[in-house]
Amino acid sequence: MGSGKPAHSALEERAAAASTRDGIAATGMTSWTAGPGRPLRGTLDIPGDKSVSHRAIMLASLADGTSRIDGFLEGEDARATERIFRQLGVSIEVPQAGSRIVHGVGIDGLCPSAAALDCGNAGTAMRLLAGLLAGQTFDSLLVGDASLSKRPMHRVTVPLSRMGARIDTGDGGVPPLQVRGGRPLQGIEYTADIASAQVKSALLLAGLFAKGTTTVIEPQPTRDYTERMLAAFDWPITFSPGRASVPGGHRLRATDVHVPADFSSAAFFIVAATLVPGSELRLRRVGMNPRRTGLLHVLRLMGADLTVETSQEQGGEPVADLVVRHAPLQGIEVPVEHVADMIDEFPALFIAAACARGVTRVRGAAELRVKESDRIATVAAGLRNLGIRVDEAPDGARIHGGRLQGGRIDSHGDHRVAMAFAVAAQCARDVVLIDDVANVATSFPGFVELGQAAGFGLT
Ligand code: S3P
Repeated sequence: MGSGKPAHSALEERAAAASTRDGIAATGMTSWTAGPGRPLRGTLDIPGDKSVSHRAIMLASLADGTSRIDGFLEGEDARATERIFRQLGVSIEVPQAGSRIVHGVGIDGLCPSAAALDCGNAGTAMRLLAGLLAGQTFDSLLVGDASLSKRPMHRVTVPLSRMGARIDTGDGGVPPLQVRGGRPLQGIEYTADIASAQVKSALLLAGLFAKGTTTVIEPQPTRDYTERMLAAFDWPITFSPGRASVPGGHRLRATDVHVPADFSSAAFFIVAATLVPGSELRLRRVGMNPRRTGLLHVLRLMGADLTVETSQEQGGEPVADLVVRHAPLQGIEVPVEHVADMIDEFPALFIAAACARGVTRVRGAAELRVKESDRIATVAAGLRNLGIRVDEAPDGARIHGGRLQGGRIDSHGDHRVAMAFAVAAQCARDVVLIDDVANVATSFPGFVELGQAAGFGLT
């Protein structure tokens, strides 16, 4: 951990002045005041991977026997999945924070829940559960928060209906999802038109309960945690980048899961240490699944100083320590082939681009428009508030690097947008007030404390 005290008091004074100037209340529970801190230094342990935590609860619940999960993300999204499986009759113990002992009920052992299953903010939970629950003998109702209730679900319900599932959506294909059980499912070969690990995983999970084989072919390979974890739980899956097949009618065998640190959470510190002069951070045991680390390639093309050390395998997933030192960045055309491998990292990349020399162009990233917020629009609006020129396109943007001013940002309840602007503030001339940040707890509990310890000006 870095030493020295975070530079809070100066920041707090400037925040108070900015609050008065802008006629707003001082920061409350759901706002942050962020501004330049000190160089970021030390060794950080980033919380567990969200995608892996969701899947670990799901597969351990359906397995025969008891599985232990370590490194479990104590974030609201993963906990929503955990709560749902408890509602479905699974006993899950919490021996300590970050660990779970899941007493699997077997592939056909889930029980109906009279109450709705609340996925909160978690798109991964809802989409994967749509597939998993379509194969049950009972009906289920999946609901979500205001943001999730606007997100498209046809991308899973339409191919699942081709397998024989019946899932009713709200108008326009949004949640809630009424999943009808007791319908025989049939394996299909599905050629997806969007690169989405959630869509792929929904179909593979439905495929566990289907007759025959379910195959998903992707336009670009996406994160393969469902595939790797099904193999670890002994399901006879075959997969290669961009293609996965599961036969139905087998059983899962309990196993222990070690969840690596979440690369997408690490990304905020990778970008911050790159941008703030004098920084050097070590991020320990970060998940390095190649379908997640596109940001490393892109930042290196921009001139970043990133070293991967002590690479090893942990529970079938590559992990490594990342050492990040400050380096000046140059704007680039982001290669489209990296987009799927960094789909959650664009808010952080946009901030890097705003601080780079010249223009950075992003294309082929229309999926950003249907994340927890429209991430092209929300980040572009925020950067403009800080004096940066951004030209939006339907599938990306051109970001003109410059000097960030202070200002006020609306995160639109999007955890990654909030954290990206906390990073931006470390390079801004003046204080940045960031509103609507409560959802950071969905993916990165303790972000403020960890950021402060590393040197962020953030309260
Ligand atoms: C996820 C897949 C991605 C990603 C999300 C988590 C997953 O979504 O953005 O944060 O765990 O499968 P899409 O499948 O919609 O691209």
